[in-house]
Amino acid sequence: MVLQTEFAQIKGNDLYIDDVKATDLVKQYGTPLYVMSEGHIRKQFNTLKTKMIDKYENTLPLFASKSFSCKAIYKLAMEYGVGIDCVSAGEISVALKAGFDPKKIYFHGNNKLPSEIQYALENGVENFVIDNFYEIELVEEIASKLNVKVNGLVRITPGVYAGGHDYIRVGAKDTKFGFSSHDNTYLKAIKKVIDAPHINFDGIHCHVGSQIEEIQAYVLAMNKFVDIAYEIYDIFGIVINKLNAGGGFGIQYTASDHPLEFDDVVSTIMDIIYKGFDKRDMKRPMVLVEPGRYCVGNAGITLYTVGSYKYIRDIRDYISVDGGMTDNIRSSLYNAKYDAVIANKAGQEANHLVTVAGKNCESGDILIRDIMLQDPQPGDILAMFSTGAYHYSMSSNYNQLPKPAVVFTYQGKSKEVIRRQTFDDLLVQYWQLMVWYANYIIARREI
Ligand code: LLP
Repeated sequence: MVLQTEFAQIKGNDLYIDDVKATDLVKQYGTPLYVMSEGHIRKQFNTLKTKMIDKYENTLPLFASKSFSCKAIYKLAMEYGVGIDCVSAGEISVALKAGFDPKKIYFHGNNKLPSEIQYALENGVENFVIDNFYEIELVEEIASKLNVKVNGLVRITPGVYAGGHDYIRVGAKDTKFGFSSHDNTYLKAIKKVIDAPHINFDGIHCHVGSQIEEIQAYVLAMNKFVDIAYEIYDIFGIVINKLNAGGGFGIQYTASDHPLEFDDVVSTIMDIIYKGFDKRDMKRPMVLVEPGRYCVGNAGITLYTVGSYKYIRDIRDYISVDGGMTDNIRSSLYNAKYDAVIANKAGQEANHLVTVAGKNCESGDILIRDIMLQDPQPGDILAMFSTGAYHYSMSSNYNQLPKPAVVFTYQGKSKEVIRRQTFDDLLVQYWQLMVWYANYIIARREI
């Protein structure tokens, strides 16, 4: 049976999202369609506010933009006093267009381009999560040219192996991100940041991985980070100003997921940091976390129209929908699992075992392998749950499929927050790419 949430309900035969009938959304906006419950997103942001900002002094949860970036989400984050992390000048530009305070933006990334660093600095972004030695040199050079100062959080890999898939476990030793903690590389990096005149060494950053369901991952990482804070104090005589514990808070995709409560993770993190700092009489740091999936993952439901089918005797029944790996790469990339329902037959018994395929020209383009659905027929509407994080943001135009629209639902109403791409957009993209590349070359020449 499908995941029942406070905003997705079955009434009679139909699925309703925030009291809007799914088939009415389809009539109005077409398929494939990303539907996001604004009510649920508000609830999650409110949890960040009440369980962290209001509960502990000097804390700031950052919404990880990479999970879902558009003006509407940044406006919601702002309403709840939540900051954001961005991993590209593109994300920063969308946030700034939404009116986001640049001082609440933290700039991440393992290969920030010179043009991106310049763009961020020119637009008032001052918090950087410093990832590597080359970046320290670049940031120093560009900040000095612009005569500004950057707050640098040094990203350190804690050597903890956790997360929902190998590709999203980034806290272990062998990762492209950050400075290693298993040798003294991170101390060399900190020294270099301290010595950089235009970078103010602001603290340390850690991100263990994504879709984490074990509290132990945070416990190990935070204990390690308290030790690193002691080491920094003993070697450099500096008490770190900020400690960023990263994101990774898991959500429920199917009944086999058992996510942690946000409150429990945050109180565990705060407890370890506060006790650790109090023990050495060090001033407690500002604590940050960076959940992305937690804020938007469960809010998303993708609606598709069922099209063709292929029944292979004694093997498998395929049904195909009008989207696929272009709007959801997670199934093929991570073998991610999802729940779904036929939105216009939701009240009926799910007694047909099928495999849901996408329409992309790729045999790995399978959205759900083996799921019981309510007799899916061409023209029916398939609703796939928990598609709010890393779906729209990882969507592509493979096979020149236009990206679906994104619609927010709230209290019985819907509004389009990102319009569906048209065929013209597919052509524009090519020119945008050329313009972007030309700007990139120019920016490199200037530095
Ligand atoms: N902070 C940093 C430094 C990160 O790299 C990430 C995610 C986050 C925060 C937010 O993680 P979250 O709370 O959303 O788990 N595409 C993959 C996930 C990649 C995560 C990348 N970094 C997926 O669809 O599962």
